[in-house]
Amino acid sequence: MPRIFSGVQPTGNLHLGNYLGAIRNWVRLQRDYECLYCVVDLHAITVEQDPAELTKATREVAASLLAAGIDPARSIVFNQTQVAGHAELAWLLNCIARVGWLNRMTQFKEKAGKNRVNASVGLYVYPVLMAADILLYKATHVPVGEDQKQHLELCRDIAQAFNSQFGVDFFPLTEPLILGEATRVMSLRDGAKKMSKSDVSDYSRINLTDPPDTIAQKIRKAKTDPNPLPDTVAELERRPEADNLVTIYAALADRDRQSVLAEYAGAQFSTFKERLTEVAVATLSPITAEMRRLLADPVYVDGVLRHGTARARSLAEPVLREAQKIVGLLRT
Ligand code: AMP
Ligand code: TRP
Repeated sequence: MPRIFSGVQPTGNLHLGNYLGAIRNWVRLQRDYECLYCVVDLHAITVEQDPAELTKATREVAASLLAAGIDPARSIVFNQTQVAGHAELAWLLNCIARVGWLNRMTQFKEKAGKNRVNASVGLYVYPVLMAADILLYKATHVPVGEDQKQHLELCRDIAQAFNSQFGVDFFPLTEPLILGEATRVMSLRDGAKKMSKSDVSDYSRINLTDPPDTIAQKIRKAKTDPNPLPDTVAELERRPEADNLVTIYAALADRDRQSVLAEYAGAQFSTFKERLTEVAVATLSPITAEMRRLLADPVYVDGVLRHGTARARSLAEPVLREAQKIVGLLRT
């Protein structure tokens, strides 16, 4: 039975990268699969968070998922802390994963920066917690943006090592689903940097909460080069900012980059940016409006999370018990 799991951190507003790289795919997958979508608050605290902001962001991110089209009657929406099995299974998997495997994780190197000895131990073992999130439900497929690919490879290594150490065929080898044209949306200010919640410049990203005039202004100010749009995708190769805007347009319009270039080849960026603003506003403004409505109804959002928690717990419990038995922690 295929089962989807994915997670998003409550560390601030969701942006267009989260939407095109992940959440839009989550919405589409729920038509055909059993899906669990988790607000991963335990991942968020691997770097310092303001407690009050964290609580608020958890509800806001849940509201954004619902506003983007996650249907809580179909899919399970919950936050990680409420299902204790995530942390419990993570411990078992910490005893399977190898220091050498974690030393290869590029996201840790980026996030820890130069002062690596001062990073939290939690940040270092973060990918093991992520594997626990997935394996706690024996999820078979995980839709994410490109940046999570290495973590999902690690999840397979951990599952395989667990199975082979105990001579069982227990955890599945999970497949990543990296779907669509925009699997890695770049900053609007710098085509070499990923669009991210933590960038100091708000002009680097389009937030799902941005009103239309803010979206228009951010796109107008987005960095480009002086040349008009080219005819072919190959010619975008050394033009990262141009490539990023064409990719965003293609993803928003559900087209591929070549068909966008076929329409806009030779156009100036000023014209292209106006069209891009139109598709961005058309896609995002219904989501923004729904988010506002949901945030005015916290009782409803909290109710969705509570219901999701109960469903997630009932799926997680037998898997955790079985894992504990396999390891020899529980009597069979
Ligand atoms: P995060 O905000 O780090 O919790 O990411 C949530 C999801 O959004 C993950 O599946 C990421 O891979 C995806 N994501 C985050 N930033 C981007 C981006 N700039 N482009 C594409 N996907 C992204
Ligand atoms: N690490 C992911 C990110 O930052 C979030 C995440 C946590 C996740 N657990 C997960 C994604 C499990 C997929 C599956 O984007």
